[in-house]
Amino acid sequence: MKTIILNKEKLNLKSNQKLIKETIKASKLVIFPTETVYGIGANALDPMAAKNIYKTKGRPSDNPLIVHIANKQDVKKYVKNISPKAIMLINAFWPGPLTLIFNKNNIIPKATTGGLNTIAIRMPSNKLAQKIIKIAGVPIAAPSANLSGKPSSTRLVHVKTDFMNKVSIIVDGGDSSIGLESTVVDTSVNPISILRPGSISKKMIEATLGETVLDKSAKVVKGITKSPGMKYVHYKPKGEVTIIDGKIEDMAKYVNKIANKKREKIVVICERENIKHFKVKTISLGSIKKPSQMAHNLFTTLRLMDELKAKIIYIHHLGSDDLAYPIMNRLIKAAGYKVVKV
Ligand code: TXA
Ligand code: MG
Repeated sequence: MKTIILNKEKLNLKSNQKLIKETIKASKLVIFPTETVYGIGANALDPMAAKNIYKTKGRPSDNPLIVHIANKQDVKKYVKNISPKAIMLINAFWPGPLTLIFNKNNIIPKATTGGLNTIAIRMPSNKLAQKIIKIAGVPIAAPSANLSGKPSSTRLVHVKTDFMNKVSIIVDGGDSSIGLESTVVDTSVNPISILRPGSISKKMIEATLGETVLDKSAKVVKGITKSPGMKYVHYKPKGEVTIIDGKIEDMAKYVNKIANKKREKIVVICERENIKHFKVKTISLGSIKKPSQMAHNLFTTLRLMDELKAKIIYIHHLGSDDLAYPIMNRLIKAAGYKVVKV
């Protein structure tokens, strides 16, 4: 298959709009930018299309897909009921990086929802994403555009590395502005629960609702994960990743001592201000003062580890304030939950 690459200008051409519409109609795949990460999209109403996504990503078929819409009102078409609290969240955060879980109706095939009776829906704020959904004329099921297990794609080059000539169309929207996947919130349960943290924080959700919500993102309850995506290996570079939790001076002592003994390539990831402490190759995630910059750089930095052929990777724990929390959620998964306190 030869992938066609389109961009904002090319999408103004009627012929290319027709091409997108026909591609989606034929159960084929279109990768497109969103404000969070790139998505690998197909017709959410078409079981064949969902199968194509799972196959192309190498994703287990019980890990459900997020359905993207371009109009808030469309949510009603695909769910059984919308609670007053869900409406408050929609009004506060859509379009934007918030995915909401509802009980699905029969229009949405189970192939799209990984066999579940619930459905994840989000309305992205990215204008190109909205345009593509409108051109398609159907809701678009789209997981992050990365091969299963790899870091999400926040740049065109990541998308090309994983999917060049494996999908019909890639739409280039430049770098993703946020760089972290959406916050996933289950509104089908009481109390409302966060299944995946993102740039829309627990605090922001609670302020909107005027009540506390549960954070289930870190927990596995009795071996059953509420969000199927929580149980799979994610974001993993080829090297062995360890999170180091403690003062930067103590981390530096720990890492520099190991570096004196080991011959394998060691790489450290930390805040820009802390690079000076290390004797080994050190990559900055961004400034401590700009967590949004660290979020923006996160997946590029994880992908860089393989390019550098890093064998041992140490990442400084960024704490749990605001954006540090969702960033660490991804990094701890990348480390396979290996955290060392110093
Ligand atoms: O920002 C994002 O959300 C990006 C862009 C492309 O929109 N998409 C994305 O999709 O990150 P994906 O498939 O990589 O992650 C979807 C997450 C998974 O953890 C999945 O298990 C969870 O949402 N999810 C989807 N449907 C669900 C459902 N019905 N119940 C519980 N969790 C669900
Ligand atoms: Mg993903």
